[in-house]
Amino acid sequence: MCGIVGAVSTRNIVPILVQGLQRLEYRGYDSCGVAVNVQGLKRARSTARVAELMAQVDAEQLGGSTGIAHTRWATHGAPVVHNAHPHFSHGPGREANQISKGRIALVHNGIIENHDDLRAALQTQGYVFSSQTDTEVIAHLIDSLYQGDLFAAVKQALGQLHGAYALAVICADEPQRVVGARAGSPLILGVGKDASELFLASDAMALAGVTDQIAYLEEGDLVDLQLGHYQVLNKAQQAVTREVKTVLVHSGAAELGPYQHYMQKEIFEQPRAIADTLEGVLGIAPALFGQGAQAVFEQIDSVLILACGTSYYSGCTAKYWLEGIAKMPTQVEIASEYRYRDSVPNPRTLVVTITQSGETADTLAALRHAQSLGMAHTLTICNVATSAMVRECALAYITRAGVEIGVASTKAFTTQLAGLFLLTLVLAKIKDRLSAAQEMEHLKAMRHLPAALSAVLALEPQIISWSQDFAAKENALFLGRGLHFPVALEGALKLKEITYIHAEAYAAGELKHGPLALVTDAMPVVTVAPNDALLEKLKSNMQEVRARGGLLYVLADADTRIESSEGVRVIRMPEHYGALSPLLHVVPLQLLAYHTACARGTDVDKPRNLAKSVTVE
Ligand code: M6R
Repeated sequence: MCGIVGAVSTRNIVPILVQGLQRLEYRGYDSCGVAVNVQGLKRARSTARVAELMAQVDAEQLGGSTGIAHTRWATHGAPVVHNAHPHFSHGPGREANQISKGRIALVHNGIIENHDDLRAALQTQGYVFSSQTDTEVIAHLIDSLYQGDLFAAVKQALGQLHGAYALAVICADEPQRVVGARAGSPLILGVGKDASELFLASDAMALAGVTDQIAYLEEGDLVDLQLGHYQVLNKAQQAVTREVKTVLVHSGAAELGPYQHYMQKEIFEQPRAIADTLEGVLGIAPALFGQGAQAVFEQIDSVLILACGTSYYSGCTAKYWLEGIAKMPTQVEIASEYRYRDSVPNPRTLVVTITQSGETADTLAALRHAQSLGMAHTLTICNVATSAMVRECALAYITRAGVEIGVASTKAFTTQLAGLFLLTLVLAKIKDRLSAAQEMEHLKAMRHLPAALSAVLALEPQIISWSQDFAAKENALFLGRGLHFPVALEGALKLKEITYIHAEAYAAGELKHGPLALVTDAMPVVTVAPNDALLEKLKSNMQEVRARGGLLYVLADADTRIESSEGVRVIRMPEHYGALSPLLHVVPLQLLAYHTACARGTDVDKPRNLAKSVTVE
């Protein structure tokens, strides 16, 4: 992951670099740093948040018109200052840590797989390493190849790197120059008025309010920024033009309003997010998924869903719809597994990637793997219209959740479900498996979702009372069946992600095959219990828990006949919602995780060890 910003300008660029970092903190927040080229290289680094770095930069009066900056999600080496970027190289025989200035300064996003071999070779040349990172290897490598032209040295160095990277590099001897490169990690070029200022960044959001003139660099691109002009070489080292477009980006600095955290705000935004996502849906039509969707949907005979984390669980939910309603054989695969697995490709499969960010490295790699196996029918359900995933898939449905800042995904999940339900209906209709009456009924239910979600959000006080019990626990089980098993999985993920309570989810019928051994009177068991065809089976599973002293926290429907009693606490959902019920049942679980995290005092929006966008594998 990690976020990069770089700039060449004539004004002091440090405030823009640091502000850019603040907007990229969603990519990682283990440490941050900035380096400028002002009569030599100078830097400030911190393991605190970017706000702290800003204060440090002010106190040290660090300023300059050419610079690079970085926010880190640690891969190689602990999150300590000496591993924070920018990394310096000051030639062989001199440890960068012991001297304040370097000749090369570099920031990096990605993983260099052959860093051990390169380190050994550079050590024999006399380079001394002051960090455990793979990044410092690149700085020394470029230094070792430098002969007065930074662009040439970076170009040569790239030939020796194996792995994924986005880089931005500056050199003490060449003020007003930044060199960047990308292979496997995103990097954009921002162009100020008349190219009087040039920028590099991991995401256009970093440059909101600075420039909206953006070019998306492509795999293998190398870019040379100098004051007033720039050039891009492609992976064949030919000069190319990358289209500069106007990209209207949200600064991400959304107001919290009456909320304490972005996660809480985003949970409460769900009625609006679903309404916006479904706004243009006047009927069930393939065109909702892009030009040419009808022809594609007519040809396909199965669906393969690729995703990670919460997006994977939305895919797991969609499998029940796609097979149950559209009768479309559906496989859901964890992207990081699929990309390395021997599988049997079917060119008549619709490959559906699901991703909030559209930049998740494993999901992108899984898509490319499927394409390399001859599966050309690709569609993404994605929240970022300008992302790599949208650019690389033939068809897309853009969810309109709005920027999601909290690391724990909430409104992205429910809007993905809305998009996937729509896909189910479109496929069912194309395959003649949806009557006009069913179509009307489903559309009506979808339009009622914002109101239904608002009613569920009104349950918050009851959830807060549950969260007081959970705050004192270290383990929790989540149970669901059928369509609500993925909801249980998502509830457990939310709880562990932001409260650090160990939580596991099981299909309730599996309980007796092992996990029941965990159940004691210290184990809270959250049960998602809508009044569906599996309710009676689920009730038996709940009895199995109570008989072992387990404490049941039951999310029941209005018409589920389960009452609160000793060891059983029931929250009743306002209405029964049929096939769309997962969109509603997940909301109390989001609130449970949120309020339990607040009670435990964790950093809700930036939980430890995580990042919002996972751009490394
Ligand atoms: O941006 P994506 O939807 O591709 O991200 C996938 C996962 O990294 C993400 O859903 C993650 O699991 C969330 N932090 C869960 O809340």
